[in-house]
Amino acid sequence: MPSKPRWTLLPDAELFYAAQRGARGSMSESRLRFDAGTWRIVGPLRPAGTLAPPGDKSIAHRVLLMAALSNGECRLGGVPNSADVACTAAALRRMGVRIQADGAEWRVTGVGFAGLHPPAGDLDCGNSGTTMRLLCGALAAQAFPTRLSGDESLRRRPMRRVAEPLRRMGARIACLGAQERPPVQIEPAAAPLRGAEHTLEVDSAQVRSAILLAALRASGRTRIRPAGVARDHTERLLHALGARVIRTPESITLHPLRGQTSWNGFDVQVPGDLSSAAFFVAWCAASAHGSLRCVRVGLNPGRACYLEILRRAGARIEITSERQELGEPSGAVRVAGPLRAPLQLAGADVVQCIDEVPALLAAAAVAGVPAQVHDAGELRVKESDRIAALAQLLRAFGACVHESRDGLQLEACAALHPAQVDSYGDHRIAMAAAVLAACAPGESRIDNVDCVRTSYPRFPDDLERLARV
Ligand code: S3P
Repeated sequence: MPSKPRWTLLPDAELFYAAQRGARGSMSESRLRFDAGTWRIVGPLRPAGTLAPPGDKSIAHRVLLMAALSNGECRLGGVPNSADVACTAAALRRMGVRIQADGAEWRVTGVGFAGLHPPAGDLDCGNSGTTMRLLCGALAAQAFPTRLSGDESLRRRPMRRVAEPLRRMGARIACLGAQERPPVQIEPAAAPLRGAEHTLEVDSAQVRSAILLAALRASGRTRIRPAGVARDHTERLLHALGARVIRTPESITLHPLRGQTSWNGFDVQVPGDLSSAAFFVAWCAASAHGSLRCVRVGLNPGRACYLEILRRAGARIEITSERQELGEPSGAVRVAGPLRAPLQLAGADVVQCIDEVPALLAAAAVAGVPAQVHDAGELRVKESDRIAALAQLLRAFGACVHESRDGLQLEACAALHPAQVDSYGDHRIAMAAAVLAACAPGESRIDNVDCVRTSYPRFPDDLERLARV
């Protein structure tokens, strides 16, 4: 017997009420069905309305950490209901930090760097690379040992990139999996950490953040070269909280905290996550008759590059900046499509839009424009091998796509057809699949979608609310 649908969207009010009454036939006429683990979507659907995306996952991890390391009471608003962020919070709680969550409003009582307690057992980072890598930096100078573990996907992700620079500062970090993969064992350092000069192999915000967190307690300054273009949330937050971070186009320099143990308690509102809104923005940019407004969305200049890429491909995008908190700008974005020109993504654009590549390729496939992605080898070590997963996904919907070592080439597609696909346990692949399914005429099915809990558990609700026939 099929399980009961959790959400049902029907083309008009009559069918909607028919479905509410459980009328016969309503199920086959419904356009969206979200059962446990599976989404069924009958396209074509277009988006219309206003979206307030969940709080930014990257910023939320960081403000939680900074709040825990503060010397006071912090109030954090707009914290996303994200399994990844919950892992960071759980790890901090296990080390004695008091965190009370009331929906998106959280209260954190900071304990300062010296106030963390040794946790009993491993700190489980779940699926979250950001939790694991940032904790490596925050815990490198602690006087107690910790072991960081994660789920099957996280255990496949490279950790040498973060362990190696921290070791150069005197940290004792061992990656216990094959080829320096998790679990990660951190032992108390033999002597206080030393500031160091780093030349990074990968332009990664997680690696830079780990170094900066460790550098706060090192003796002497730490310099990272080149400065890179990866998201700079940690630098902005540290600067706003009073740490001495000096940024030039060539380098980032951090002077360790002197005298004071850290910073005072603070209040902050986390802006909405552009990487979550990205799927709705892509859907709208690709559709001829969509219209979408995203409000309270983070507009960090590095991340907003995603909107610029869509604009270059012909989407109409209007951005209104509204506020700035702890160095993070946010505002509203209005989007209309369709895309008309090829999408080109390489170099710095790839670093800044690395999480948006699935949304961008889905948009290009729907709009029937070609797309080229180069220099994106990092996609192979995300929550899934996203190059392989995207190639499979796009082909299943009828697109012609070529996979290379570090990218993808999508040919202009005639028309998509519905498909049955799997998310490979990767939240961004599941949501890109939903965009393709919403635009392909007929019923598509996406399996293994529980992974959206990672960043956007209410994605199906927002899809239902914004979808129009
Ligand atoms: C993130 C940085 C990026 C991004 C990830 C979140 C962060 O990864 O892909 O989803 O919050 O710092 P890298 O640091 O590996 O580039």
